[in-house]
Amino acid sequence: MKSVIEVRASIPLAGDELVPPPELFWHPSTLHGQAHVARVLVHGFRLVAATGLIEEMPRLWASVYLHDIARRHDGHCTGHGGDAWERLATLPEVQARFERGGVHADDYPAIRAAVTMHSLGEPKAGDPHARLIKLLKDADGLDRVRLGDLDSDYLRHAEARGMVRFAQRLYGDTDHKLPTGPDYFARLWPEAMRLAALVPDPSSVRADGSRT
Ligand SMILES: [Fe+2]
Ligand SMILES: [Fe+2]
Repeated sequence: MKSVIEVRASIPLAGDELVPPPELFWHPSTLHGQAHVARVLVHGFRLVAATGLIEEMPRLWASVYLHDIARRHDGHCTGHGGDAWERLATLPEVQARFERGGVHADDYPAIRAAVTMHSLGEPKAGDPHARLIKLLKDADGLDRVRLGDLDSDYLRHAEARGMVRFAQRLYGDTDHKLPTGPDYFARLWPEAMRLAALVPDPSSVRADGSRT
């Protein structure tokens, strides 16, 4: 198993390249904009560390990056995932960034499925991309703490259900406190690591209280 620090380091890019700049979002939103996507990426790194699914990380990173860039409003909307995927074809600089971050051509069918499905529903039985779809949906779902309607029973991984307290703390201690901007993730990450030490996940604490 890799630590969350090792999982983060598996994407060989500086923090200012890990999430979209605010101007890439069609809808400049505080609910679904850069700060939300940065928190979803924190949850993604931690979920991959907890589940051991390290080989999914480049695909999950690209999926998190894209998933909300084509929203037109903050309301219920099933189509913005598919729209985000289609937008990628018009963003050669993002495609180049993904390549530098370790995303390969054969990762794109899974990324397409995850980004499209995140706003549509659950993967069908036998969906070959179910693993990535579920990781994105749980990382995104953990940040529903900002909306006050997260029901942890709906999270798809037991590891994610243990991260709700951290998600609340990450949102409460950073949203509207750290200004968004090109280096937002680079500023959020040390805060996230500080909070993770304060709010350990149940799966990272042994019976005697020491950390794994
Ligand atoms: Fe979304
Ligand atoms: Fe989202």
